[in-house]
Amino acid sequence: MEDVYSEYEGKVVLVTGGAGCVGSNLCRKLAELNAKKVIILDNLSSAYEWNIPKADNVVFIKGDILDDEMLKRAYKNKPDYVFHLAAHFANQNSVDNPETDLMINGIGTLKVLQYAQLAGVERFVYSSSGCGVYGLESKMPFEEHDVSISLHTPYQVTKLLGELYTNYFHNLYDLPVVNARFFNVFGPGEVPGKYRNVIPNFMYWAMNSLPLPITGDGTETRDWTYVDDIINGLLAMGIKEEAIGEAINLGSGQDQRVIDMANIVNRLTYNDSGISFIERRDWDVKTKLLSSIDKAKKLLDYQPQMKFEDGLEKVHEWFVENRDDIKRSAEF
Ligand SMILES: NC(=O)c1ccc[n+]([C@@H]2O[C@H](COP(=O)([O-])OP(=O)(O)OC[C@H]3O[C@@H](n4cnc5c(N)ncnc54)[C@H](O)[C@@H]3O)[C@@H](O)[C@H]2O)c1
Repeated sequence: MEDVYSEYEGKVVLVTGGAGCVGSNLCRKLAELNAKKVIILDNLSSAYEWNIPKADNVVFIKGDILDDEMLKRAYKNKPDYVFHLAAHFANQNSVDNPETDLMINGIGTLKVLQYAQLAGVERFVYSSSGCGVYGLESKMPFEEHDVSISLHTPYQVTKLLGELYTNYFHNLYDLPVVNARFFNVFGPGEVPGKYRNVIPNFMYWAMNSLPLPITGDGTETRDWTYVDDIINGLLAMGIKEEAIGEAINLGSGQDQRVIDMANIVNRLTYNDSGISFIERRDWDVKTKLLSSIDKAKKLLDYQPQMKFEDGLEKVHEWFVENRDDIKRSAEF
């Protein structure tokens, strides 16, 4: 990774959604890599000011990607690179609020792209979703060509829509885009909440001595990918020429059962309240998820480093260190 890391020194980078789980970790890394300026554009709709990295080269603009004034303010800094991570997150939220989902993930993405094209950025990296764009008929491990147009939530539809828009800007305007398909990201920086992922929510409940409610029977599998591995993939996508115009999976390439994850969380937190089983959600039909990361290895030299259990320990440490902030912020 050293070869791509040095490329960010002295550069201006715009990260939409930079206060979120992936974004806060990406911005911290970019600041450490001596980017000239890391501009975060985030409306804090699902993030918290205390979680934003603090450094002299990090500038936070509290604003909405649907707001032209805010976009102009962000792009006035003439970013070399854009990482578009802002999104209405995620499946259940989109089922409950499908119009907001389309506004932010559809129109919002279109607007961020329009400004990127006008600014002539060197690279535009879009955060798509592996769990979103592959369908029941896609073969596992999922390969990039095998996308589905028969999806199960508005979020999955709008994540795919975002890819279609980035491809359109690439095809018509030669905008150097890359579509990053993340698989189940986990790591420090994700505050638990009603619409958040299962790992931070389980960690939170376990630390409050509650039983962990599995939606299903626990044999479901996920391809949980540690946030630092995602960031290494993203940084390579920002630099490698071979990535331009491509959609590339960023996963761990390994599947884990939900019940095993829950047991590890209970063990790490000394929670003896166990596990409960509740009904699977109607849209939650993809019971098994597994990425092929061959393309990422080939084009990006991507190699996930974090062992699943060690990653869960890191999440636990982060929860312990930020216990008060998390308690104040977690909304269910
Ligand atoms: N976390 C995952 O498992 C996962 C998996 C696949 C894809 N993704 C995608 O990766 C990206 C980052 O995910 P994350 O887990 O960090 O999510 P996140 O919700 O933590 O981060 C998204 C950020 O966008 C901000 N935001 C939302 N609407 C906005 C708006 N209208 N204007 C400005 N900011 C806005 C939120 O406040 C938040 O900080 C998202 O695009 C998500 O769809 C995530």
